[in-house]
Amino acid sequence: MGVFEAIGSDTHEEVLYGHDSVSGLRTIIAIHSTALGPALGGTRFFPYESEETALRDALRLAKGMSYKSAAAGLDLGGGKAVIIGDPQTIKTERLLRAYGRIIDSLGGRYITAEDVGATTADMITISKETQWVTGLPDAYGGSGDPSPATARGVLGAMRGVAERLWGSDDLSDRTIAVQGVGKVGSSLVERLTKAGAKTVVCDVNEAALQAVSSEYGSIIVGIDEIFDVECDIFAPCAMGGAINDHTVERLRCAAVTGAANNQLETPDQGDRLASRGILYAPDFIVNAGGIINIADEMHGYDWRRAATAVDQIRENLRKVFDKADQQSIHPYVAAIEVAKERIAGIGSINLRRRGHRP
Ligand SMILES: NC(=O)c1ccc[n+]([C@@H]2O[C@H](COP(=O)([O-])OP(=O)(O)OC[C@H]3O[C@@H](n4cnc5c(N)ncnc54)[C@H](O)[C@@H]3O)[C@@H](O)[C@H]2O)c1
Repeated sequence: MGVFEAIGSDTHEEVLYGHDSVSGLRTIIAIHSTALGPALGGTRFFPYESEETALRDALRLAKGMSYKSAAAGLDLGGGKAVIIGDPQTIKTERLLRAYGRIIDSLGGRYITAEDVGATTADMITISKETQWVTGLPDAYGGSGDPSPATARGVLGAMRGVAERLWGSDDLSDRTIAVQGVGKVGSSLVERLTKAGAKTVVCDVNEAALQAVSSEYGSIIVGIDEIFDVECDIFAPCAMGGAINDHTVERLRCAAVTGAANNQLETPDQGDRLASRGILYAPDFIVNAGGIINIADEMHGYDWRRAATAVDQIRENLRKVFDKADQQSIHPYVAAIEVAKERIAGIGSINLRRRGHRP
């Protein structure tokens, strides 16, 4: 497939290929939409097997960012950058600064942040060449680690789910199965414990498991066993694709609400959840706390303002569930519709913001 065909199939605005022969930098920056504002999305540093795979990943992720930011009510578009190569071997100051210059050439149409293979330290290096960087540490005027904000948003979403299912947002004595207790999962377990919930956890990282178990009294189960746990809410907080052919029929929960990206391995898993009477809270609505927090950097970061915005996730989710009910569609489809409607509706009156910080 040619590049124009790939870009056009999902109506992306622009794709920039950048190269630096000295450092070996090969980057693809995909801008899906700037209708609502600058395209914000992280830099993924990964040894892609081919340029085509890298392009496809950049295009897919950029579109996902458009939807996530639009549905979260942010004045941001969607973009994503990939750097082809193993970050352990090819990452150098020269490469990152050359990459920063390429971002700078876009004049603010694309704003970067951390993603797989990139670190906060990398963002500091990139910021020497361009102002269009977010996810900087507190000491640099940034918002620091987004994970606590993401966990805050997930907890709010769970309260919304509880209210919808059981008529009360009280999570005390509810049992939540948390798959993955890394940065977001462990912060979520802490918040759930404070809310009075019981947690059942799994992880491949034994130290992470022991930490939450001793701190919060979580019950530990195996990484395959988590799908059979009888619980009120299952919270995928590890890798994508947790809901798949092997797991969807096993779940013994009333709802799925978690932080992981791309929780449904294929869209039809959403239908299978629905047919089993399990309420699915769409991942990109639930896990928007991180991007909401990062977006606040563009106004000069203030955690209270960011937290207030993160707390809107519960209301955003309510609108998605209402739309799904009214139109008899799956919540995941309703979430995409909400995002597209906002891009079309607000995007058309927001043109003056293009290329500028909101
Ligand atoms: N960090 C954020 O602010 C943020 C924002 C939005 C979405 N997300 C998504 O949330 C998820 C978690 O993010 P994170 O920042 O906490 O990552 P993390 O790497 O800190 O934590 C992930 C945890 O999952 C564990 N894990 C890996 N494979 C597993 C398996 N098969 N079973 C159980 N546990 C497994 C890892 O050992 C790790 O402890 C990811 O999918 C991420 O893309 C994170």
